[in-house]
Amino acid sequence: MSTSIAEATPVHSQDLNQLAADIVAKAMRAGATDAEVVIREGDEFSTLVRLGQVDTLKESGSRGVGLRVFLGQRAASTSSSDFSPEGIEHLVSGAIALARVTSEDPFAGLPEHGSFGQLTQDLDLYYEDVYSLPGDQRIDYARRAALRSYSPYSSFRVGAAIRLSNGEIVTGTNVENVSYGLTICAERSALVAAVSQFGPEIRIEAIAVANLNNAASPPCGACRQMLSEFALPEAPVVFPAADGQRVMSFSAILPLAFDMKLK
Ligand code: THU
Repeated sequence: MSTSIAEATPVHSQDLNQLAADIVAKAMRAGATDAEVVIREGDEFSTLVRLGQVDTLKESGSRGVGLRVFLGQRAASTSSSDFSPEGIEHLVSGAIALARVTSEDPFAGLPEHGSFGQLTQDLDLYYEDVYSLPGDQRIDYARRAALRSYSPYSSFRVGAAIRLSNGEIVTGTNVENVSYGLTICAERSALVAAVSQFGPEIRIEAIAVANLNNAASPPCGACRQMLSEFALPEAPVVFPAADGQRVMSFSAILPLAFDMKLK
């Protein structure tokens, strides 16, 4: 039995924008007719818990810069994780040198500025309150959330925590039954506990799901529908996905909840 929480924390920094602009300018000065840069920086945190004990703990940082230059119809790309001035110099001169020896491609080139898509608002994919939890609390949270599971039939131990607008955090776990269909999921357990404790006025501001099986477990459709009457559309939902920990807004995981409003 294990649980794993992984995250990629974007660091929105003006410095990275500036660095990207500097690299493009450098490439243009070095002879490029066009250039584009992508910079990525993040932190990763993951922990594996077995039988209630921390088995492995990994905290690491990663970053990378990618450059694509065009010399007319010749193009080349280089990438690096070295952001030092020498590293950047090397990145740019390498790309230019490579482009000089590549053959011309009549279709190479960047699209016109006007044909780029434009994001008018932040995609809201980053939630400081989730990422700002200290490491030991995250481990504790992962461990506690699913340890109380009653799941003798599936052995799939799920935990859910919901944060309410009154500041309270209520947790729930899955409770199975030999008549399998009677099983209640962790998310609905947390929801009914929250309503039972604080009444029907509760509003859910954030939802987190974890399991002790090191498997993907987004909230199931039934739980999404149940939560929809209490969850704010922008509430972040954190859950283990196939590609690691994911955060999506509630409205993104349930775009068309059933409602009974008459026309
Ligand atoms: N389960 C949850 O607790 N939440 C979900 O969203 C989906 C499934 C539980 C129910 C059952 O005990 C086990 O996972 C296997 O389906």
